[in-house]
Amino acid sequence: MKTMNAPTDDIYRVAPDGSMQLAGHAVSDLLEKFGSPLIVMIEDLIRQNCRAYRQKFDDYPESRIYYASKAFLTTGFCRLIEQEGLGLDVASAGELATALAAGFNPENIIMHGNAKTLQDLRLALESGIGRIVIDNSAEIESLNDLAGLLDCRPRVLIRVTPGIKPSTHEYVQTGQVDSKFGFNLEGGAAAEAVKRVVAKSNLKLVGLHCHIGSQIFALKPFQVAARTMLEFYARACNDLGAQFSELNMGGGLGINYTPGDHPPAIGDHVAGLSRAVLAAAREFGIAPPILCDEPGRSIVGRAGVTLYTVQSTKKIEGIRNYASVDGGMTDNPRYALYQAKHQVVAAKRLNEPVDTVWSISGRCCESGDMLARDVDLPNLKAGDILAVLSTGAYTYSMASNYNRVARPAVVLATPGMVELLARRETDQDLNRLDQIPTWLAQIGKP
Ligand code: LLP
Repeated sequence: MKTMNAPTDDIYRVAPDGSMQLAGHAVSDLLEKFGSPLIVMIEDLIRQNCRAYRQKFDDYPESRIYYASKAFLTTGFCRLIEQEGLGLDVASAGELATALAAGFNPENIIMHGNAKTLQDLRLALESGIGRIVIDNSAEIESLNDLAGLLDCRPRVLIRVTPGIKPSTHEYVQTGQVDSKFGFNLEGGAAAEAVKRVVAKSNLKLVGLHCHIGSQIFALKPFQVAARTMLEFYARACNDLGAQFSELNMGGGLGINYTPGDHPPAIGDHVAGLSRAVLAAAREFGIAPPILCDEPGRSIVGRAGVTLYTVQSTKKIEGIRNYASVDGGMTDNPRYALYQAKHQVVAAKRLNEPVDTVWSISGRCCESGDMLARDVDLPNLKAGDILAVLSTGAYTYSMASNYNRVARPAVVLATPGMVELLARRETDQDLNRLDQIPTWLAQIGKP
């Protein structure tokens, strides 16, 4: 009989009674204190990942890391990222406002977006943001005009779509020719964009950006993209009037969601990328650019664990066993969106055999509201605690209030300390945007 596939990282410890400990905190203590469901972010692992990016980049003449805040963002989390010496990538006025509310130095923030609104750009310029990545033709005009109006000259990069298609889910591929993002190399749109931006008096063009996709395991596509970008970088400097100093490779490294996943170590990725950029700089006869990266998932993904309480079970003989929990697609839509897999364990029964196959369903009124299908677990019952692993990235940041389900609390856990990064939503929070039209204001029937 199989035994529970208990995770073996340092961060997840199994106590002798078979229950999981996160950063030294027993899951039952965490749930008692903060309620269920609960997202637990393990601080040491996040710091370790930030340092792995920064240390390896130390081998390269000059580099910068921007944490991709779309993966997970709260004001407190911004403080941690800034302490670790990383900048921040934001993709909306909302993400920027969170960073500013946390006191994050705007100089170290870079803004993205394929449909930036005037409100996004205005907040970016007024706050003195470090860099804006121009994504499309209309933005060249609108940003230049707005900068003129506000009497400033923002540093900008041009987002290039290098025509590379890594092997990952199609929703998170972004570097291929058929993409809504950036200026394509193929067909000359990127070259045209460089010429136009160089000619704009209110824009200071400092470099190029690309993002080929997310949850990528192979190192080769990053290195091929780096060479392709450097070739264009050299051409833009030599022939198109650009004076670049930065190349931003846009993050995208994958993480392990299940025991079968074996992503490269951060250090190996960064070393490979640095080498590829240095080699390409030599090949194309240019000085190595300031090498920037924008990791999100590989900083926070593995560091998050979501704890749920089983509310009910249903066994359909010969078909499927459902265990329904007190959360689901509202706090983690990744299965519903991408059929993404996450390892699931019975967090207080880690020493028990896993003899039953379960599908873990969420609480929303929708059959697609699943967290996992066909996972080996003990014979579950209502009240059991399930831990869904690797939920630090793209879960809370993509959460919704479908069925007016409140978003869970998020805590930051470190040995000896655990505190809220975000409190659980209340019924009042759920109603806070509602207005009653005057003609409906009277209670009861007219
Ligand atoms: N830079 C840009 C411009 C991006 O669009 C992204 C991610 C990143 C950096 C960070 O990529 P990472 O290092 O996290 O792979 N919701 C999806 C992932 C969407 C990724 C979007 N862009 C998921 O749950 O898998």
